[in-house]
Amino acid sequence: MKNLALIGTGNLGTAIIEGILKDKSLNPSNIYATRNHIEKIGHLAEKGVNTLNNNVLAAKKSDVILLCVKPYKVREVLTELKPVLTPEKLVISVATGISIADMEAVTGKEQVLFRAMPNTAASVEEAITCICGNSENEDNKREVSQIFDHIGKTVFISEELMDAATVIGACGIAYVLRFIRAMIQGGIEIGFDAQTAATLVSQTVKGAAQLLIENGLHPEQEIDKVTTPKGCTIAGLNEMEHQGFSSSLIKGIKASYEKIGK
Ligand SMILES: NC(=O)c1ccc[n+]([C@@H]2O[C@H](COP(=O)([O-])OP(=O)(O)OC[C@H]3O[C@@H](n4cnc5c(N)ncnc54)[C@H](OP(=O)(O)O)[C@@H]3O)[C@@H](O)[C@H]2O)c1
Repeated sequence: MKNLALIGTGNLGTAIIEGILKDKSLNPSNIYATRNHIEKIGHLAEKGVNTLNNNVLAAKKSDVILLCVKPYKVREVLTELKPVLTPEKLVISVATGISIADMEAVTGKEQVLFRAMPNTAASVEEAITCICGNSENEDNKREVSQIFDHIGKTVFISEELMDAATVIGACGIAYVLRFIRAMIQGGIEIGFDAQTAATLVSQTVKGAAQLLIENGLHPEQEIDKVTTPKGCTIAGLNEMEHQGFSSSLIKGIKASYEKIGK
């Protein structure tokens, strides 16, 4: 493993490092994790990660620099790091809404730059991370995806789709959770206590997702398997559609997308 500087080790940065550390073939001493309050990442230091409050030193020591600070801090941090950036160093940002062009304005176009958009499921290693960059070099792309493979799955997309990826991946977690909440409420109405309903619904949603992931079928093909003619599933599904189920979801996705573009 090359040396990795993780600049801004907060929620997401910590989840990424914890994901990496589960791979026992990797050496924690190859990671340089920074933040201002390094006492808050003492648990990472105990595992052998270098923790420091010096971004420049971390970047100097590293081949890959992962920026996990808030979006409004990216320009400031890149400006601070610029004197130690070399064309061989690979810079990745997870900051929402900060484009490759925004970063190139600080670093110059010769710097290899990537953006990555994971979601909050990173902390349970089930994120989907959408990645784009200014380099088509396969070694660079592999290097970036290997980092995010530790917190879930990765997919390369074009930068124009990064806002759409934010809606489906990051906002998507909230849409699915709202769906789960509604299903729990329905479960309570038909007799379950809240805790049991939550257990049933969470596992049912996980199972449905796993069916698609493992079988690779279209959702409707899996739905066909559980809809008996004149049965209760199709009666419930059709009533949901009469009430605008799919339509409201699609409209919500479009509303989020319109908002993000403003
Ligand atoms: N959370 C997610 O699942 C998620 C998903 C997609 C994208 N993102 C993006 O990920 C980034 C981080 O999000 P987060 O939720 O992890 O935020 P966060 O918990 O606030 O982490 C940001 C960290 O940056 C540190 N920091 C601030 N100024 C710094 C500086 N000058 N040098 C070094 N470190 C500094 C802060 O540490 P101190 O408090 O010690 O200063 C803080 O721990 C954001 O840009 C966000 O858009 C997050």
